Amino acid sequence: MKAISLSRYLIEEQRAKGKIPADLRLLVEVVARACKSISVAVNKGALGGVLGNVGTVNVQGEAQKKLDVLSNEILLEANEWGGHLAAIASEEMDDPHPIPHRYPKGEYLLVFDPLDGSSNIDVNVAVGTIFSVLRCPDGVTEPEPEHFLQPGTRQVAAGYCIYGPSTILVLTVGDGTVVFTLDRELGSFMLTQDSVRIPEDTQEFAINASNARHWDAPVKRYVDECLAGKTGPRGKDFNMRWVASMVADVHRILTRGGIFMYPVDAKCRDKGGRLRLMYEANPMAFIIEQAGGAATTGHQRIMDVQPLGLHQRISVILGSKHEVERVALYFREN
Ligand code: AHG
Ligand code: MN
Ligand code: MN
Repeated sequence: MKAISLSRYLIEEQRAKGKIPADLRLLVEVVARACKSISVAVNKGALGGVLGNVGTVNVQGEAQKKLDVLSNEILLEANEWGGHLAAIASEEMDDPHPIPHRYPKGEYLLVFDPLDGSSNIDVNVAVGTIFSVLRCPDGVTEPEPEHFLQPGTRQVAAGYCIYGPSTILVLTVGDGTVVFTLDRELGSFMLTQDSVRIPEDTQEFAINASNARHWDAPVKRYVDECLAGKTGPRGKDFNMRWVASMVADVHRILTRGGIFMYPVDAKCRDKGGRLRLMYEANPMAFIIEQAGGAATTGHQRIMDVQPLGLHQRISVILGSKHEVERVALYFREN
C-alpha cells in the first residue's frame, strides 16, 4: 500500500473532487498539528506535570484539568494566526474566541472539545480531541455565539483525534470517513483506513449503567432486551463496554460496530442531556453517518437539531444503523 500522508490525502481530495478548498485544507492541517502537540503532552503525563486539576471551573460547572486548559491553549494558538478562521468556540470557554485584529480573518468557524474524557486522564485511559467546522455566515466579520448556532447538517468537516496506544485522527469532509495513524518517527499522520463502514448490526452496546434507574422506558426496553441475550426477544447474546471517553467508545464502534448511548434521562433532563451538541454530538454524528451509521436523540436525527446555545446538551444514541433505528422505533412506540 502506498503511503499517503494527511497532506497528500487532502490535496488529492481537493484536486479530484473539488471537495476541499485550500483554506479548509489549511484548517484541517493546523488542527492535526495541534493534536500532535496535545498527544505529546498527554504522553508525558506526570513527567510533564500535566496531571490533576487547575482549581477552576468551566462554563459547564466542571472542574478543569490542567490538560483541558493546556489542550485548549494549544488549539487556540495554532489556529488564530493562519487567516482561515473567523472565530473559535470551545467547551472550555464561555464565549467564542475572536481572531485577534492583527491577523487576517477567514470564512470558517471552528468548534472543539479540546480534551474529551477528562476523567480518564489521571488513570491513563484513552482521551481525545473532537472538532467541528462550520462556515461563518456571509457578511459577518465579528462572529457572535448566534452565528455558530447552525444544525450539524451544515458542518463542512468534523473529526476527532484519539490519544490511545496509537494516536489516531479520524476525519470527514462529507466524502466518507477516513482514518490516519500518527507515525511518531516521521511526525506525520498516515492514511490507515479509507472509506470506513460500520457494520449495520451489532452485539455490543455502550451505556453508563449506573444511570439505569433514571432511564426513559424505550432505553430501558432496549438494554433489557440486550441483557436478556439468547433467551430474550433478540435471540442473541450482547456484550457491554463503557470507557467513559466518548472518543474511545465511538472509535471502538467505528472499528467493529456497536451502539453508544448517553440518552437524556430523569437525572439530566433539566440540562437537556449529558453530552454537548456543538462539539461532541454533531461532529460524532457526522463521522458516524459518513461511515454508514446513524445518530439520533431518540426522537430526531441529531444533525437536524437547531442549536439554541453554544454549550447546549443533547441526548445521544449513535452507531450501527439497525440498532439505532431499533431504539428510535422504541421511542416512537412508547
Ligand atoms: P469531557 O471530558 O469533555 O467533559 O466529556 C466527558 C463525556 C464523554 O467523553 C463521556 O462519554 C461521558 O462524559 C462520560 O460520562 P460519565 O462519567 O457519566 O460516564
Ligand atoms: Mn467531551
Ligand atoms: Mn472536554
